[in-house]
Amino acid sequence: MSGRPGFYERRVLPRLIGCACSQPVLTRLRAEVVPQARGAMFELGCGGGLNQPFYRPEQISRFVGIDPNLALLDAARAAAARRFADSAFHQAGGEAIPAADAAFDSIVCTFTLCSVTDHPRTIAEMRRVLKPDGVLLFVEHGRAPDSGVQRWQRIVEPVWKRLAGNCHLTRPIAVALADQGFTVEPMGREYIARTPRPLGWMEWGRAVRTA
Ligand SMILES: C[S@@+](CC[C@H](N)C(=O)[O-])C[C@H]1O[C@@H](n2cnc3c(N)ncnc32)[C@H](O)[C@@H]1O
Repeated sequence: MSGRPGFYERRVLPRLIGCACSQPVLTRLRAEVVPQARGAMFELGCGGGLNQPFYRPEQISRFVGIDPNLALLDAARAAAARRFADSAFHQAGGEAIPAADAAFDSIVCTFTLCSVTDHPRTIAEMRRVLKPDGVLLFVEHGRAPDSGVQRWQRIVEPVWKRLAGNCHLTRPIAVALADQGFTVEPMGREYIARTPRPLGWMEWGRAVRTA
């Protein structure tokens, strides 16, 4: 997020992310999680707009999305065109979400916590902007449970994150949410098919603010 994005971030990365994130196996997970969003809702890292087909506009009163990548943000805005009565898209990062405390009934976060600059800070920010009875809906990839796979994740990550927009492979998912005050209600956790295991450990589900 520091400095002016170069050609790779503006032109190449959005296409790579679009291809990688639209695999059918990931689309199936989006379809399971995203339609649960309702009320005033916020999407972290909404870039590309791949979740847009899975929202049910009739159960969403306001949609707010943020993403630091302008090209991806513009694609999300285009994908959402005229779907919501009230929507806003901001170029911003999750480390400082431009919203008041307890502003949202639902938050959607898919394949984004791997890429943020400050993972704990971003999760704490999502907790701050979620209503006490709100729900965080997530699908994320990250640290695998097996030590052999973890070893490969540590080896590959330094190169991978440079190529893939700061995408980390070793970040815990449910554990990191719990550390920042969420109670996680898992919907699934597995290695997805046809993907190398270091890249393919997924966890998805719902999380609520721990009382
Ligand atoms: C792998 S893409 C996933 C995009 C989208 N969430 C999806 O499910 O298709 C990761 C996204 O995280 C965004 N991102 C990177 N750093 C971020 C940050 N600090 N805060 C919020 N989003 C960030 C990227 O610009 C990109 O849109």
